[in-house]
Amino acid sequence: TPRVLSGIQPTADSFHLGNYLGALRQWVALQDTHQAFYCVVDLHAITVEHDPATLRRRTRVAVAQLLAMGLDPERATLFVQSQVPEHAELAWVLGCITGFGEAGRMTQFKDKSAKQGTGGTTVGLFTYPILQAADILLYTPEPGPGERVFQVPVGEDQRQHLELTRTLAQRFNHRFGDTFVLPEAYIPENAAKITDLQEPTAKMSKSASSPQGIIDVLEEPGPMRKKIMRAVTDTGTEVRYDEENKAGVTNLLRIYSALDGAPIADLERRYEGAGYGQFKKDLAALVLDTFTPIRERALKLLDDQDQLDRVLDEGAARAGEVARRTMEVVRERVGFAGRG
Ligand code: TYM
Repeated sequence: TPRVLSGIQPTADSFHLGNYLGALRQWVALQDTHQAFYCVVDLHAITVEHDPATLRRRTRVAVAQLLAMGLDPERATLFVQSQVPEHAELAWVLGCITGFGEAGRMTQFKDKSAKQGTGGTTVGLFTYPILQAADILLYTPEPGPGERVFQVPVGEDQRQHLELTRTLAQRFNHRFGDTFVLPEAYIPENAAKITDLQEPTAKMSKSASSPQGIIDVLEEPGPMRKKIMRAVTDTGTEVRYDEENKAGVTNLLRIYSALDGAPIADLERRYEGAGYGQFKKDLAALVLDTFTPIRERALKLLDDQDQLDRVLDEGAARAGEVARRTMEVVRERVGFAGRG
């Protein structure tokens, strides 16, 4: 069976609509066809200053949301990154075959470090993409008959990190012998970059968007509807896909199409002459229909801490088994002394 791995940071009290459409929905779908590994990446979350109690809470909320979205711990391995120490270990090895300049070219690092100011940027933020490469490559499909397929469902903003991961995998294979299958980015066509509702040319983002620009998965229905009704459009009236001139409407059309399944051209026809009000009203209903049950399930799951712990223990055990097998090969290839 093909394999899939992905990760998400527990850096907010809720995931948002961009996370859901760009990645998490695909996570849920792929658990049926792939051997799936999904991790909440708390090691990545400490690359910027953080509060320990908040991180612990957000990690639990993250897991509850993933389960509420339909991830089934029987079918997918759901785990917390820090509970599988091999992630940090492989990151070290990969860091030793990464060029300094190569890491310096990562645009997310450049953006984030610019925001932190020179004093605030950490080495951890710099090596963040190398840890991400380790997250992925630890779960490389094992040798066997047939083609080895390895996919990573993410949004557009992770494309460069995926490219680096492939480069590092290739370099490792070349220097030390064939070890890693090159992973492929699995990026949805129309929901790869959901934009800010108030600033529709910028990415919807936990760290950069204003509260009005972002739809949280765990948001109450009232404010959720309001934000959609108040989303920035343009002075025209036509519900038409036009990235250049109608970024706001285009973003809403993408969201609508992703949730409803109708192609964008069909939606343009459906709303011909209807105006933005009706379009937004229907979109709000769609978004609420999607997230209300997820929110209710997530809140219920958070009441049962023991069950969440059991899911995570089991997930860490299963992920750890695979990670340890990969690291055994890596250690041998790199020339580390055996442990007898
Ligand atoms: P993170 O936690 O920022 O985001 C989680 C996922 O959501 C996607 N995403 C979006 N998709 C569409 N539109 C948006 N506005 C939007 N905002 C976020 C992201 O592309 C991502 O897929 N570095 C990763 C976490 C990570 C990871 C990994 C991912 C760590 N290790 C291994 C894949 C494999 C990140 O910061 O995602």
